[in-house]
Amino acid sequence: MLLRDSYAVVDLKRLKNNIEKVHARFNRPLMAVIKADAYGHGFKEVALYIHQLEYLEMFAVATLEEALELRELNIKKGILVLGAVPTRRAQIELAIENDISLALVSLDYYYLIKSFKLDRPVKVHVKLDTGMGRIGLQNEEQLKELLDDINPGQFEVEGVFTHFATADGDEAEYKKQLEKYYRMTKGMKFKYMHCNNSAGMFYHDEQVSNLGRIGITMYGLDPAGEHRGEFEQVMSLYSNVVMVKKIPKGSKVGYGMTYTAKSDEYIATIPLGYADGFIRKNQGREVYIKGKYYQIVGRVCMDQCMIKVDESVKVGDQVEIFGDHISLDSMAKELDTISYEIICLIKRIPIIYKK
Ligand SMILES: Cc1ncc(COP(=O)(O)O)c(C=O)c1O
Repeated sequence: MLLRDSYAVVDLKRLKNNIEKVHARFNRPLMAVIKADAYGHGFKEVALYIHQLEYLEMFAVATLEEALELRELNIKKGILVLGAVPTRRAQIELAIENDISLALVSLDYYYLIKSFKLDRPVKVHVKLDTGMGRIGLQNEEQLKELLDDINPGQFEVEGVFTHFATADGDEAEYKKQLEKYYRMTKGMKFKYMHCNNSAGMFYHDEQVSNLGRIGITMYGLDPAGEHRGEFEQVMSLYSNVVMVKKIPKGSKVGYGMTYTAKSDEYIATIPLGYADGFIRKNQGREVYIKGKYYQIVGRVCMDQCMIKVDESVKVGDQVEIFGDHISLDSMAKELDTISYEIICLIKRIPIIYKK
């Protein structure tokens, strides 16, 4: 039962089609990136819907908390925490107990965990920094020091990986990062060697790695923000009109009275605001109602916003915020951001799952 007039629809069939499309091209096992509540799509439903896909080898999340929540779903596949888990004994032991793999993000990080003298090995994927400048071992010397020192009684090196800063952009920089990754891992053999995100798998032809991390394309969005129609957008966001009124010319709308009616106008109110992740910058953008586009006028409030409509719009009419008529890629361009940010910000919105 829906308890409010704003809701998202997540089409799980589309999600699966997108994964299949990427897998058909990449043709190697995949790790599904479902951090940040599956980029706002609901990690439980997403994980439970796809975990039996044969070529889906692992899941990736950002935090230990996300990893533990995923394990609670009784999912047996491997789970990698992409970010640095706090280097405290209790947290590392929790990871071991729940068979969660950690990213080994630096030499300091490694030596701290080593100092715990764990009696069971923790599974790790060694992270390499090939140009992002975020986390990871920085060069061959550091990697050699780590691998020479590491004790299999305390660490099970399950994989080695990197994340490119420009897989969706600057080609020359991408090549430099890929070359660094190849240099650093030359002659090594680990169960999992992974360097590709969606853009890496879809826009490049890297052949050496044996696992791909699929994030944004699974959700039907283009890594570079171009609306090329390659993927099927999985999430749509809707609201229903809760009030329509006619206001006389010169009337004001919203906080700060930033909008003035230029003539007698119809104004609709929908229950969607910045507390739902629908940021104030949306003022002036358009929504879609019954075949027409209408402008959001006045400031977006915390829980509501107003739309300049015409007399055809009635209480209860469905308002598409993004979906089949307004793509997330175009919305991201208008908001000067990326689709990732828009979907991750959405909260407090009930989700209807379409299978
Ligand atoms: C380390 C790492 N791998 C993979 C991904 C997935 O990237 P994408 O959503 O562009 O496929 C991310 C996303 O932020 C990431 O941080």
